[in-house]
Amino acid sequence: MRTDNLEDLKHVIYVSRPTHFDHMVLDNILITSRSNNLEIGVTGNLICHSDLFLQMLEGPSDALERLYEKILADDRHADIVKLRDEKSELKLFPSWAMRNDSHQSWMLSRSEIANMTAEEALVLFERLAREIMNSSSTS
Ligand SMILES: Cc1cc2nc3c(=O)[nH]c(=O)nc-3n(C[C@H](O)[C@H](O)[C@H](O)COP(=O)(O)O)c2cc1C
Repeated sequence: MRTDNLEDLKHVIYVSRPTHFDHMVLDNILITSRSNNLEIGVTGNLICHSDLFLQMLEGPSDALERLYEKILADDRHADIVKLRDEKSELKLFPSWAMRNDSHQSWMLSRSEIANMTAEEALVLFERLAREIMNSSSTS
């Protein structure tokens, strides 16, 4: 099992546009992400609409930089815009190699998400993380 060095923790949030989208694409991304991220100590959340990806990645900075390079080169999406790349002190999704909260954010339009500031994107993921904590403490 990996133990995280909290001094080296950072997060990246980016937005992008799927080049071709169907549920197979999302399923394949999630399967690969969950298996790879577990190995490298990365966790996060992927929000996916037919015309938009919004992803938060969190983990050790070296692993995250290498992963982001791979993601940048992936032709399943384009117009990738990095919103945040910051040191952090804790993980919002420590138990999720890659959570998929697309259904939790369906009420947000593509333009609302695509035009989010870095701060608003972080606030969205913080809200989603709080909802997980609340639902686990009441179940
Ligand atoms: C929107 C999007 C998000 C992705 N997220 C991850 C991820 O969190 N982890 C990951 O390993 N690959 C992710 N990928 C896939 C990578 O781009 C790449 O295909 C994969 O890491 C290659 O894995 P491999 O080296 O095991 O073949 C993502 C791809 C897309 C399009």
